[in-house]
Amino acid sequence: SPSATLVIAVDGTSGSGKSSTCRGVADRLGLAYLDTGAQFRAVTWWMLRAGVDVHDADAVAARAHEPRLVSGTDPLAPTIVVDGEDVSGPIRTDEVNAAVSPVAVVPAVRTRLLELQRSIIAGVLAEGRGIVVEGRDIGSVVWPDAPVKVYLTADPAARAARRSAEEGGSDVAATEQSLLARDAIDSGRTTAPLVRADGAVEIDTTPYTLEQVVSQVAALAAGARAPG
Ligand code: DC
Repeated sequence: SPSATLVIAVDGTSGSGKSSTCRGVADRLGLAYLDTGAQFRAVTWWMLRAGVDVHDADAVAARAHEPRLVSGTDPLAPTIVVDGEDVSGPIRTDEVNAAVSPVAVVPAVRTRLLELQRSIIAGVLAEGRGIVVEGRDIGSVVWPDAPVKVYLTADPAARAARRSAEEGGSDVAATEQSLLARDAIDSGRTTAPLVRADGAVEIDTTPYTLEQVVSQVAALAAGARAPG
């Protein structure tokens, strides 16, 4: 199959349209899908429920290996299960939004999820399938050899409007502040910060529809598969 070794690494800021784009591309090209942000959110959800102070990096690190995560890779029905519990809904709350960036800076959390992410990608490839992987450090750290790397951005106002619509009409100004706060932490951290990876094609999604962005990424994938 032409997609046998295809890994499409998609990184970018919160609310740039990454999830919808990645799911659309995976569905269109018949690829698996991995949402690494959902994994960081699931660990965060677990820490909050366990009563761990998420601003205490040592406390988070001490328990980073406890939650057992299972990520579904179907782009039409993405799921994340922690210790047997499907937390696909609960990981999208304001509480988790506010706590996830401090958890994601903890090196023990990143190392643990890096191993998990690489094993999931390798498992999909071993089955002769390709995969679209979304996050912040996929093209730079998780899978630097990905033949297709995309870096998605969008105007903060456009991102906030989209995220607010996804959240059923939350306050747009507050949503924008929350997105910008997460961007600052995600870009400023020492371990695997959000950066445009070497070789990544940057797409500013602000003026485009979802279908248009999906088509642009699918075209990059088609180019990567072409012989020569
Ligand atoms: O994409 P998202 O909003 O669901 O990501 C949630 C948080 O997880 C975000 O604040 C940054 C972090 N994250 C990360 O550090 N590295 C990744 N590969 C994916 C997400």
